[in-house]
Amino acid sequence: MRSRRALLYMPGDNWKMITKSITLGVDSICMDMEDGAAVNKKAEARATIAKALRELDFGTSEKLARINSVGSGWEREDIDAVLPYRPDGIVIPKVESYEHVEWAGKIIESAELKYGWQVNSIRILIGIETARGILNLKEIISHPRLDAVIFGGEDFAASIGATRTKDAMELLYARQAVIIACAAHDIQPLDIVTIDYKDIEALRAESEFGARLGFLGKQIIHPAQVEPVQTAFTPGADAIAYARRIVETFEASQKEGRGAYSLDGKMIDMPLLRNAQKVLARAKAAGKI
Ligand code: COA
Ligand code: MG
Repeated sequence: MRSRRALLYMPGDNWKMITKSITLGVDSICMDMEDGAAVNKKAEARATIAKALRELDFGTSEKLARINSVGSGWEREDIDAVLPYRPDGIVIPKVESYEHVEWAGKIIESAELKYGWQVNSIRILIGIETARGILNLKEIISHPRLDAVIFGGEDFAASIGATRTKDAMELLYARQAVIIACAAHDIQPLDIVTIDYKDIEALRAESEFGARLGFLGKQIIHPAQVEPVQTAFTPGADAIAYARRIVETFEASQKEGRGAYSLDGKMIDMPLLRNAQKVLARAKAAGKI
């Protein structure tokens, strides 16, 4: 699965930001027709995204288009405008049911068949950002075309009537619900946007906290956020070295018939091996090993 440490949004009608985004070395680029595009700019956003998919070389960055939510009345025209130009994935915001994902899944599959593209090659990423979305996550998450769940912190706070704070404790339960659902289905969980984009230290701290919780990446809104976020979601050299030592010593200890053993004064057994293997998989996906 593709590494999405940082997913950068920009309004889909903003050609300048789209052309800038492809120079940034960011893992994922998400051209937005939803809340980033003003109500009187929806048509322009559709046409601009279609042009970008047709004309620009995104290099190794993933190219995504975010449509308006299912039921908004804009979603059908949004998806029809961009699908023929073969984005890597469609982002559906404010998903609240399995049927919302299935609606897009059917349209995407018929495009894949029509154009002769491999079935399932265009992925779906969903926004879970309402109370209903969290409640119905158990069914939603089982959709076979899903690649990532994006947790929308601001929308979720509005949905439950929470006041946003800097440490985001009001979002902790929902963030963990997303992580747990994703872990059960091998899907990537992506964390909240840090909207105070000028405060890079706060961004680093929030990214590191999200990574410790189990998120694999984070949404961003400004070029200055690319490096801090991609770094926070890439295992560091020390973490990689330690994970390698666990894998090596675990094997030796198993051969000697010991399930648990001591390394640097700490008990190591199967769960620590599994975590070490995850660290190495993340490092590999990020091209670090
Ligand atoms: N993607 C690509 N390029 C971006 C960008 C983005 N999200 N945000 C800013 N830039 C570019 C600007 O065009 C500018 O380019 P230039 O140096 O070539 O002129 C440069 O980065 C510096 O931008 P800056 O002046 O610091 O930002 P701003 O004050 O113009 O805009 C925001 C600030 C938050 C309004 C803007 O970053 C933005 O619109 N972000 C995306 C918001 C969005 O999509 N929200 C919906 C999803 S949550
Ligand atoms: Mg939102």
